[in-house]
Amino acid sequence: MAKFSAVYFVALLVAVSGAAHEEHSRTKRQAYTFPDGFLLGAATASYQVEGAWDEDGKTSSIWDTQTHDKNYLIADHTTGDIACDSYHKYDVDVQMLRDLGVDFYRFSFSWPRILPDGHGNRINQAGIDYYNKLIDLLVANNIQPVATMYHWDLPQNLQDLGGWPNYVLVDYFEDYARVLFRNFGDRVKYWITFNEPLTFTGGYEGAYAHAPAINAPGYGRYLATHTLIKAHARAYHIYDDEFRADQQGKVSITLNVDACFNYQNTTEYQDACERQQQFEMGLFANPIYSAEGDWPAIVRERVDANSKAEGLAESRLPVFTPDEIEYIRGTYDFFGHNHYTSNYAIPYDGTNDPASDQKDHGYYLTKDPNWPGSASSWLKVVPTGLRYQLNSIATRYNNPPILITENGFSDYGDLNDTGRINYYTSYLTEMLRAINEDGVNVIGYTAWSLMDNFEWNQGYSEKFGLYQVDFEDPTRPRIMKESARVFQQIIATRQIPEAYRT
Ligand code: NOJ
Repeated sequence: MAKFSAVYFVALLVAVSGAAHEEHSRTKRQAYTFPDGFLLGAATASYQVEGAWDEDGKTSSIWDTQTHDKNYLIADHTTGDIACDSYHKYDVDVQMLRDLGVDFYRFSFSWPRILPDGHGNRINQAGIDYYNKLIDLLVANNIQPVATMYHWDLPQNLQDLGGWPNYVLVDYFEDYARVLFRNFGDRVKYWITFNEPLTFTGGYEGAYAHAPAINAPGYGRYLATHTLIKAHARAYHIYDDEFRADQQGKVSITLNVDACFNYQNTTEYQDACERQQQFEMGLFANPIYSAEGDWPAIVRERVDANSKAEGLAESRLPVFTPDEIEYIRGTYDFFGHNHYTSNYAIPYDGTNDPASDQKDHGYYLTKDPNWPGSASSWLKVVPTGLRYQLNSIATRYNNPPILITENGFSDYGDLNDTGRINYYTSYLTEMLRAINEDGVNVIGYTAWSLMDNFEWNQGYSEKFGLYQVDFEDPTRPRIMKESARVFQQIIATRQIPEAYRT
């Protein structure tokens, strides 16, 4: 009997610890598994991949001007004239997306390809046909189109009128948005009005910046932002008024924000991070996503105070009227978020600087020398930063559905791209922690990019693709990289592969 009990006891112990072990591995598996219905996709943008810069009725955008007339601003003096030639090879792109098994493809419309005059008066049928063919092929292959209206290629003739700092663009953007909803809204259900306003408004902050490279520091970004936020809200409202009932899609904006870490663990450094979040994210997000609307209070206070000290009668930061605040507040169906890297914010007293963003911020940004690098000077690998930033969005804006519209890593184009594999798997792991442990409502994730492409002022010198593109070969062949195989496996299994679990 005694013997029997001992055996029984041991068996029980084994059973209990077996169950505990099973429970442990189940929760572990869950921690690396994507929630049901989670969307996985890949992205590109018109100017970066299409080429065909002057074909079939397309006119110049500010990036055609930048690469043709100011090519000293492009690291390798290249252009997007041909790029990946996706205008002619979109069927190959869709085949690549099929091979990856993605749920969706995020691409952007080229405004001057659709409206060669920038205005709604003249629609270029060849442009409409091109996007129809692309969208139809996606849909036929069960790949959802996620479309960005503006990924930086403003028609040059609208820049000639001043570009985004000119408020007349609110009306012109409305006309453009209407053409897009009308022509493509039966099939496109996810719309992004603007991609990364923080980045493209930088084009009005310095002569060596992104297009249009206008040197108006301290003014250009605020004026451009004032316009684009109203233009975003206008597009959202016309969707509500004219299209939503029939088309049943979602309309939002994509904001890029780096995470900020407290360098010295002091309140002073924490405050600098808070300013970074408000100047880089709040400037665009607060009017749209916050309960109260309008610019963030700290941004308003700092720019007003500096403007006054500079002897200006008006603040450099424009004012939204109470009606505008109401009109803009809540114009979203999700939060589009591009995330790549992190910084430290170092408090900085720029009182004696000339008018500039930097002076208004009261911080400058720096990187930890221990963070692993990439081919881009600004892109250090800090996976926990994604979790931090997702939480920052969730806490500030009432946990909206977040669609990660970009995340990715640059190298020099190797097929055996272990740096990219580590990047994707570690960032995705941190994203899953934000979802499972912190309760952040992330609904989808987009890899930047489907293929190597024209990386703006860096030309083709930095590569972000899951597919390699040979830019020396006129036929622009694409080859799958190792990272694409891992991403393919992630999509097929809806899990982080065991070999990459940390
Ligand atoms: C964000 C931009 O949206 C995209 O166009 C760019 O290529 C990537 N970041 C990488 O820099």
